[in-house]
Amino acid sequence: MDTSWHDSSSDRRHTRHRVLSLITRHAIVEELAEFGAAVHICARNQEDIDKCLEEWKIKGFHITGSACDVLSPDQRQNIMQTVSSNFHGKLNILINNVGTTAPKSLIDYTLEDVTKIMGTNFESSYHLCQLAHPLLKASGYGSIVFISSIAGLKAFPHSSVYASSKGAMNQFTKNIAFEWAKDNIRANAVAPGPVKTPLVESLMVCVFVKRLYIL
Ligand SMILES: NC(=O)c1ccc[n+]([C@@H]2O[C@H](COP(=O)([O-])OP(=O)(O)OC[C@H]3O[C@@H](n4cnc5c(N)ncnc54)[C@H](OP(=O)(O)O)[C@@H]3O)[C@@H](O)[C@H]2O)c1
Repeated sequence: MDTSWHDSSSDRRHTRHRVLSLITRHAIVEELAEFGAAVHICARNQEDIDKCLEEWKIKGFHITGSACDVLSPDQRQNIMQTVSSNFHGKLNILINNVGTTAPKSLIDYTLEDVTKIMGTNFESSYHLCQLAHPLLKASGYGSIVFISSIAGLKAFPHSSVYASSKGAMNQFTKNIAFEWAKDNIRANAVAPGPVKTPLVESLMVCVFVKRLYIL
């Protein structure tokens, strides 16, 4: 594969895509890197990031990363500045994957829970899209991918705040696609069902989640 940097939108297959992936999940990052994309990742802990970067360096991938707690607006701005400087002011793909939850009955959620879950899952991705807009536009063909959830489409127990954050994300995807089509920026949401990851393992105390795996 030709991985040279050039911007002719008529020849996208031969352009190295610049991707900001708000995750350290190996599967998505490695898939993109295998296609020759330059990827910048984020998580909260720099040591975790560095461990992943070491592995990926050995594999010859073009991946960088920096710590960012997406609940902090300042840290969101910092990571976008880093990306802008790494990728020469251009970004082809923004992947909003960060997510959190805590299983509780609707009546038991505190305002702090709501602020944390909505802030992590929805508000941060809203703000990051705003920050990424000039970079996505400058690339000539930008794409935003939201990792939503089936919980944003259907009602499940013990997930009212998480589900609301993903429902908001689904609607926001449509608004972005509508407003930014003129800038050649696409937006899509992926809505997976249950996948056994650390996030789901942390929910295994919940009888309903356990049942999903037994069925
Ligand atoms: N697993 C499922 O069944 C399932 C189903 C549907 C949708 N999803 C969605 O898929 C996405 C990924 O989830 P996962 O299942 O892969 O869970 P995961 O392994 O726990 O990954 C969550 C990611 O979010 C990051 N994160 C959480 N809070 C953060 C914060 N404040 N700042 C920066 N990063 C933060 C974590 O990074 P650090 O902890 O390293 O900082 C981690 O990389 C989420 O949006 C989730 O809602 C998952």
